[in-house]
Amino acid sequence: MAGKPPRDTLLFALDRFDAEAEQSGSGERFAVDLGCGEGRDTAELLRRGWRVLAIDGQEEAIRRLRARPDLPPGAQTRLETLVCPMEAVHLPPALLVNASFALPFCPPEAFPMLWERIAASPLPGGRVSGQLFGVRDGWASVAPRMTFHTRAEVETLLRPFVVEHLNEAEADGTTVEGKPKHWHVFHIIARNSRGPG
Ligand SMILES: C[S@@+](CC[C@H](N)C(=O)[O-])C[C@H]1O[C@@H](n2cnc3c(N)ncnc32)[C@H](O)[C@@H]1O
Repeated sequence: MAGKPPRDTLLFALDRFDAEAEQSGSGERFAVDLGCGEGRDTAELLRRGWRVLAIDGQEEAIRRLRARPDLPPGAQTRLETLVCPMEAVHLPPALLVNASFALPFCPPEAFPMLWERIAASPLPGGRVSGQLFGVRDGWASVAPRMTFHTRAEVETLLRPFVVEHLNEAEADGTTVEGKPKHWHVFHIIARNSRGPG
């Protein structure tokens, strides 16, 4: 995945933060990137000056993230990494919790606790960005250790937030490995309702 561009949901959230900073200024900005993989989103956060805690369950993903040639000079000092299941982490307060195409890999029984922690993490004015998978996703019938949601369930999960973007997308496509797959994805950007403004 190294070299792939950052996800649109991350870019949308970052553009919002940048627009707000133009009006009110900004101090240090800290993000958690859950299921960061090889770091396409983490790298963008670092390029934009954020401090990042990047978490992935696979050691190899974190090794590849740290070895990326496109990290800006000095970025490693703003990058903390953790090899750990995301559902086992007590998330620190952060301005952004980003989880691109990662949350569905949380086992169903652990998801409520993970979401509770995610909902509690964004600071006032902070955001959550990323994806959840819908119940008609092609993996829903073959991957019992993954988590899928109905639209009504997604709306319930987002109740504590101000929803800035919720796009339900459904289409036949392919996996990263090129295998045919039906995708049912909710793209989400949500702001802490305790946020300023
Ligand atoms: C589809 S990749 C997405 C990677 C990256 N966020 C992106 O947008 O390309 C899912 C990532 O989640 C990680 N992952 C899967 N289950 C996990 C878990 N329970 N805890 C932490 N990471 C997990 C995988 O190792 C993988 O790197």
